[in-house]
Amino acid sequence: MNILVIGGAGYIGSHIVYELNDAGHKVTILDNFSTGLRENVDARAMLVEGDMQDLVLLDRLLGGNGATRSTGGTKANDGTGVAAGDIGPASAERFDSVFHFAALKAAGESMEKPEKYTSANTISTLNLLNLMVKNGIRNFVFSSSAATYGEPEYLPIDEKHPQNPINYYGYTKLAIEQAMRWYSQLKGLRYAALRYFNAAGYDVQGRIMGKEQNPANLLPIVMEVAAGTRPKMQVFGDDYPTRDGTCIRDYIHVNDLATAHVKAMEYLASEDRDLELNLATGEGYTVLEVIQEAEKVCDKPIPHDITGRRAGDPAELVATSSQALETIGWKAHHSSLRTLIESTWNVYRDDSAS
Ligand code: WQD
Repeated sequence: MNILVIGGAGYIGSHIVYELNDAGHKVTILDNFSTGLRENVDARAMLVEGDMQDLVLLDRLLGGNGATRSTGGTKANDGTGVAAGDIGPASAERFDSVFHFAALKAAGESMEKPEKYTSANTISTLNLLNLMVKNGIRNFVFSSSAATYGEPEYLPIDEKHPQNPINYYGYTKLAIEQAMRWYSQLKGLRYAALRYFNAAGYDVQGRIMGKEQNPANLLPIVMEVAAGTRPKMQVFGDDYPTRDGTCIRDYIHVNDLATAHVKAMEYLASEDRDLELNLATGEGYTVLEVIQEAEKVCDKPIPHDITGRRAGDPAELVATSSQALETIGWKAHHSSLRTLIESTWNVYRDDSAS
């Protein structure tokens, strides 16, 4: 199938682009490289450099004026790509599905700058939905989040759990999910809202080596300390009601996320029904367990200070993905703590050599 991946140069998006190409699909990436990395872009994909908030560009792309091979669209990761202005004549190759990974995701920042998240996440995605409707593209795979649930009322969290986000980032994802429900009913949109728990790890085949800049998440921060690019880290609280007092999270490997996305897209095309799925393992690891495993894998100490709690952190967030197994036949295979850390250390270890 002919697929548009918005944000296909990002941490999650780049992994899904490789998986889509591996599965034999034809992929076009739209990315503005605000956080995406050229080195992570699969050369098999066509690259359009531009911003999804450029509605003229987006409309042309969705209207069949995709970056066509006839324009001699150059290989993505040689950094030249197909500039927005180079989009060729209507290729008549409409996209069969659109994937959207281009969003802001820092929960803490969303509480300080909600207007930034309204523009980047909510408004831009609603504009995308309108242009998909205008151009007759029905299938939409959306990167949603566990953050739509808020404080867990029970564990493990299933898809029936109430959605009461406790940060504005989580609200933007919920607002988009609610709009997709209406567009499904009123305009025939077929969507998959895939709610990630804690995405982590790097491509187990080592094809994606570019690191996220200024990471806020636990695993990359632990890796920066192991590599020596960050002297020390903080553990945000050890007085939670958990087995060692630190927070428990359900870490899901990006390669597992990638297979789920491809399966979800194929389900939308064949079953003609919407999906709202948790993508998680059902296992949880504490912050200290992550640090201890990293010390073993990297064979280095991970200096850390125990500090006070971080606002908005639930003690435990673990989900069940039985719905994903039943509907799209998916379960995690690469999400053991050892693999999550080894695959990430494979990307960070060279820094420790320098
Ligand atoms: C994990 C645990 C921290 C850093 C976030 C977003 C969420 C989703 C996933 C997109 C927590 C602790 C962390 C550090 C620490 N994103 N920690 N020291 O907060 O569970 O979820 O990413 O959908 O929306 O909120 O992930 O990696 O920030 O934290 O102690 O330096 O590690 O307190 O318990 P989180 P995280």
